[in-house]
Amino acid sequence: MRLTSALLFSAIASVSAFTAPTPHAQVSRLNTQLHVAAETKPLGKPGTAKLDTDWKDLGFEFRPTKSNLRITYKNGEWGEFEMSEDPYINVHMGATALHYGQACFEGLKAFAHEDGSVHVFRPDENAKRLQSSCERTLMPVLPHDKFIEAINEVVRDNIEYVPPYGSGGALYLRPLLFGSGARIGLQPADEYTFIIMVMPVADYYKGGLSSPVDGILITDFDRAAPRGVGNVKVAGNYAADMLPNMRSKKAGFPIGLYLDAATQSNIEEFSTSNFVGIDSENKKYVTPKSSSVLPSITNKSLMKIAEDEGLTVEARDVLLEELETFDEVMACGTAVVVTPVGSITKLGETDEDTVKYTFGESQEEVGPITRRLYDRVRAIQYGEEEDKNGWLYKIN
Ligand SMILES: Cc1ncc(COP(=O)(O)O)c(C=O)c1O
Repeated sequence: MRLTSALLFSAIASVSAFTAPTPHAQVSRLNTQLHVAAETKPLGKPGTAKLDTDWKDLGFEFRPTKSNLRITYKNGEWGEFEMSEDPYINVHMGATALHYGQACFEGLKAFAHEDGSVHVFRPDENAKRLQSSCERTLMPVLPHDKFIEAINEVVRDNIEYVPPYGSGGALYLRPLLFGSGARIGLQPADEYTFIIMVMPVADYYKGGLSSPVDGILITDFDRAAPRGVGNVKVAGNYAADMLPNMRSKKAGFPIGLYLDAATQSNIEEFSTSNFVGIDSENKKYVTPKSSSVLPSITNKSLMKIAEDEGLTVEARDVLLEELETFDEVMACGTAVVVTPVGSITKLGETDEDTVKYTFGESQEEVGPITRRLYDRVRAIQYGEEEDKNGWLYKIN
């Protein structure tokens, strides 16, 4: 492991009279420290890094940046931040993450505004979700303030890699926490590593929303058991989804929808995004409520905006048969915000047994409510609409 610099927070902490303005009261003390750090190292400008491609041609893939941030948990406590330029990590071959999947991660984005400031979308929510993933897998919880402080520091250090305002891109942040200590018998590790890697990503679909995609119902596999780990963002959930996911794609369906494992009668979620159905006539936003669905921060935000738009939000059991009542269906998550879904097919033994649910008049065009919700959340993220709910965390 090649570590290039360690932050000197203990020295900075002695300056306590300074109070930085922050929308997050609970992180004000830490922001104070960071703000003092900011005085010694001015904040750079988004969109000024030299990339191997144009900002507008980025995809959603790994790309090197200046640094990643690391914190190690040893002897019962979390250590100090360390910034590294090395994309590799040196891990013991007996690490519990490798054998027993003691690992979880998060995904969030930082956006450049027109005035050059940079804002992360709802990091508080990712901090909370990371904590619940840690609790469920017996990993030490990273304190909330430390998570926010780490987000601030890693974005500040890589600010040149935040795509410029107007490019449609964002800096994608991938926090990762895993058991790095060795255990051969099944038990939690005694050492853990927290990393945040960052990379610039483009608008997932060039120019905004995609045209609707065709979905398939996954009937031969389950994503998560009712009392399993589907409601937390642990690595194993994604390993379990690799095979069904690749099979769906091979069959010509870019997105797969899971049902509940116990009864196969309720809709749960897509592989990496929540399900939302719109009943335009009754002005309803319907989304499954289940203990085995990952609570999506995008969905939570869209629900608020939907209410604002006069829709009734229903988070409840959603029967498979209800698919025929929806005029628009979308898959929502951080990477894409929303993916419009034009149809969902339930393959049968024969063509006669196959059922295809279609949404809206045309499966080619994005529905008006999907578009409106997408436009509004994007406008908030890019600072074009007032952030009435305090969702943006300003890098300082
Ligand atoms: C299984 C699953 N559901 C839903 C989501 C969407 O969550 P969010 O909106 O917080 O990105 C994700 C992505 O994190 C996911 O992996």
